[in-house]
Amino acid sequence: MTAFLSRRGAVEPFHAMDVLAEANRLRAAGRDIVSMAVGQPGDAAPVPVRRAAEVALAAGSIGYTDALGILELRQAIAGHYATHYGLEVPVSRIAVTTGSSAGFNLAFLGMFEAGDRVAITVPGYPAYRNILSALGLDVVEIGHPGEGHLTAAHLLAAHAQKPLKGVLFASPANPTGATIPADDLRELVETARENGIAVISDEIYHRLNYVAPDVSALSFGQDVVVINSFSKYYCMTGWRVGWMVLPEWLVRQVERLQQSLYISAPELSQRAAVAAFSADEELSAVRGRYEANRALLMDRLPRLGLPLAAPMDGAFYAYCDVSAHSNDSMEFAWRMLAEAGVAATPGRDFDPFDGARYMRFSYAGSPQDVETALARLKEWLKA
Ligand SMILES: Cc1ncc(COP(=O)(O)O)c(C=O)c1O
Repeated sequence: MTAFLSRRGAVEPFHAMDVLAEANRLRAAGRDIVSMAVGQPGDAAPVPVRRAAEVALAAGSIGYTDALGILELRQAIAGHYATHYGLEVPVSRIAVTTGSSAGFNLAFLGMFEAGDRVAITVPGYPAYRNILSALGLDVVEIGHPGEGHLTAAHLLAAHAQKPLKGVLFASPANPTGATIPADDLRELVETARENGIAVISDEIYHRLNYVAPDVSALSFGQDVVVINSFSKYYCMTGWRVGWMVLPEWLVRQVERLQQSLYISAPELSQRAAVAAFSADEELSAVRGRYEANRALLMDRLPRLGLPLAAPMDGAFYAYCDVSAHSNDSMEFAWRMLAEAGVAATPGRDFDPFDGARYMRFSYAGSPQDVETALARLKEWLKA
C-alpha cells in the first residue's frame, strides 16, 4: 500500500507534549511530578460558566449555530470591548471560533494566497509557524533581541529584504510573557498599514498583563484582525471557544470559510462562554495566584542560575536561559524531569534557531506547585 504524506503536513511536533507524556508516564508509575510544561490554567472553568453549560445541556438541543456564532455571545463579546477597553465594536464584526486556533486558519485563509510572506516573531507560539507552512505560506521569522518584543523597525527591516503580506504577533507573548508597550504597538500597526502589511494581533493573554493596562491593536485602526479566546484568562482551554474581531471587508469571507471548515463553534461552549464575562471575582482570584507565582519565580529563578531571557510582563510564563547548566535545553528538560521530577518545556518548541539555550516554565498552576518545583530545582542544581 502507498502511504500518502504531504510535505506541508510534516510539521514539527510540540516537544512540550512529549515532555508531558513522559511526566504522565512517570506519574502513572507512582512518581510525584510537578508539571510546569503546559500553557493551561490549573483551575477549572468558573462556576457561572459550568452552570450555564448545565442549563444548556438540560434544555437539550445542542446543534449547529450561525457560522459567526450565537448572537448572545457576540453581544457579550462586544460588551467586553466596551467595558474593558472603552472600544465600540459592532456585533457584526465579531466571529466566534473553535478556540483561537481556528481563528488563525480563518485569518490566514481569508487574507493570504499560498506563497505569500507572513512574518511571525521568534521565539513564538509554534502553531503559528506550523499552520502557516501547512497552508503553503512562506513563514518569515523575525527575532527581536534587545527590546524583548517586536517593533516597527524589525518589521520594516524584514519587509525591506522581501515584501511581507502580513504580520502576526501576540502581546503578552508566549513563551516570553513580553508585552508590546502601547506606543510601540501604535507604531507597529501604523507602519504595517503604511507598507500594505496586514496585521493579525493575538490577544489571547489579555487580562493577564501584570505591568500595564491591556491595549488592543483595535485602538489603532479598524483594519486589523484581532484573535482572542476563552482558553487562558477564562480557564476554558478544553471548551474550544474563541473569537475574532474582523475588518468589515473580511466578515463575509470568514463566514463562508467557517461554514465549510467548522460549520460553527460548539454550541454548548458558546452558551457557557456567555457567562464567562460575569465571573470576574473568581477569575481575579485565579489571576492573583498567577501574580504570586510570578513574583516567586522572578525572584528565585535567576538565583538558581536560570536568568530570565525576557521580562515576565504577562501571560503565565518564565522564559529562562539554561546555558549555565546545559547547551541543550531538550536534554536538560528530560534530565530535570527524570531526576528532579519537574517538567518544563524546552525552547526548541518556540525557537528553532536558538531554542537549545532556553526553557519555558509555565506558572498557571498553584503557588504550592511552584514552591515545590523551586525547592526541587534548588537541590537538583546544587547536586
Ligand atoms: C499565543 C497563543 N495563541 C493561541 C493559543 C491557542 O489557544 P486556543 O486554546 O484558543 O486555541 C495558544 C495556546 O497555548 C497560545 O499560547
